[in-house]
Amino acid sequence: MGFAQVGAMVQLKNMGLFKTQGLINGEWANALDNRTLAVNNPATGDVLANVPFMGKIDAEKAIAAASVAFLPWSKRTAFDRCKLLRKWFDLILENKDDLAKLITLENGKPLTEANGEVVYGGGFVEYYAEEGKRVFGDIIPSPFPTKRMLVMKQAVGVVGAITPWNFPLAMITRKVAPALAAGCTIVLKPAELTPLTALAAAELAVQAGIPSGVLNVVMGDAVEIGAAMMDSNEVRKITFTGSTHVGKLLMAAASKTVKKISLELGGNAPLIIFNDADIEIAVQGALYGKYRNAGQTCVCVNRILVQDGIYDKFSEAFTKAVQKLRVGHGLDPGVTQGPLINEASLKKVEAHVQDAVSKGAKVLVGGKRHSLGGTFYQPTVLCGCNDEMLIFREEVFGPVAPLMRFQTDEEAIKMANDTEYGLAAYAYTENIEHGWRIAEALDYGMVGLNETLISSEVAPFGGTKQSGLGREGSNYGIDEYLELKYLCLGNIKQPFMC
Ligand code: SIN
Repeated sequence: MGFAQVGAMVQLKNMGLFKTQGLINGEWANALDNRTLAVNNPATGDVLANVPFMGKIDAEKAIAAASVAFLPWSKRTAFDRCKLLRKWFDLILENKDDLAKLITLENGKPLTEANGEVVYGGGFVEYYAEEGKRVFGDIIPSPFPTKRMLVMKQAVGVVGAITPWNFPLAMITRKVAPALAAGCTIVLKPAELTPLTALAAAELAVQAGIPSGVLNVVMGDAVEIGAAMMDSNEVRKITFTGSTHVGKLLMAAASKTVKKISLELGGNAPLIIFNDADIEIAVQGALYGKYRNAGQTCVCVNRILVQDGIYDKFSEAFTKAVQKLRVGHGLDPGVTQGPLINEASLKKVEAHVQDAVSKGAKVLVGGKRHSLGGTFYQPTVLCGCNDEMLIFREEVFGPVAPLMRFQTDEEAIKMANDTEYGLAAYAYTENIEHGWRIAEALDYGMVGLNETLISSEVAPFGGTKQSGLGREGSNYGIDEYLELKYLCLGNIKQPFMC
């Protein structure tokens, strides 16, 4: 396919946002060896663009640029940096329609969800444009009459940020905004499957006046770019959202140069519905929590545990609600579920369903590839699932809801916590005292009580156990990009006694 045809697939109000090169030191750049990578629309298979397939040398150039830019950027006042972030936020909102369209085109999610992602993603930029002004230190009461003890917070240095395809904008702003507010500079590697939104966001950052070298974007060979980041002494911090497998590799590699690291990894979220839940509210919660982004978020509900007394009623009402979901191309009005991102994801979903059915699960709705073909899969509900099944242990990352029955609170808590993951968990009960005790017992970084849409720029996002390290968003999120420096002032003379 010729370049003109490829470009024609993407029609934006502002075609200046359709960037197809990396960004190094303020210059739009091709890969050193001119290799390229096709970006596809997962709904149609069309090639949307060819972007550079960058490697080690490109990444090293970006790191060098970020390194040179660090001192001047970190020495600016926080107010100065935050003004630019605020401008970036304004531009993101001004270009909301184009960003949402790019997200839908390269990720496949319905346009309404993509619009929601722009607001969510922009929210991190707005939030940290303010929070950057509140990076306070401490004065510690000194045990010594001649010494004064202080703590200051300083930018950690150059940050390597590696982001996933499931939120092409929000996972970038959630890392880049606090890092820039703190005074760090960045080399960003967006997912190869969804770089166009990242590049558009970077173009808006350039327009906002973020100086050359402060934000660099390289995409391509994940192994080479990752290794360049991990091996560099200049890169002092790695922030990653993605699989637990890759997170562990990065954690091991970070030990070579003892980098600060934050990891937002896989989940296996239980949704527990107790006999004392409001069924209608629980059905809505399960629907949003399971089928958002076609089940492709790491906080998506993975297992639905339903108490015996409400199981039949819930499964009937939930199945009816799932039958109403509309599968299709994300740009088509009324569509509530797009395609899966690629064939590998589709195969994983199929394998989970086959495994569950072979071990006794029954399909209440769906259970097959969708008639639209490609990577579309039917919204699916399985009943009679148990802890022997793959779907109990692993994140399905697709539109499959397995229902499991339980009798007592203790059994539900045991089932919910019986996983190596600890990202998000949800529970539905109308009894607040009951809900409080359940929330305390769940070994997870985030708990939604009568709510499955819990993500927000103002709240700390992150997990326990093998779901990761550190938190993103909120006042806590900026700490990931700061070092504490203890300052001891010595030889202070006797205090004035007047
Ligand atoms: C993720 O899937 O990694 C993020 C989901 C969210 O921010 O809600």
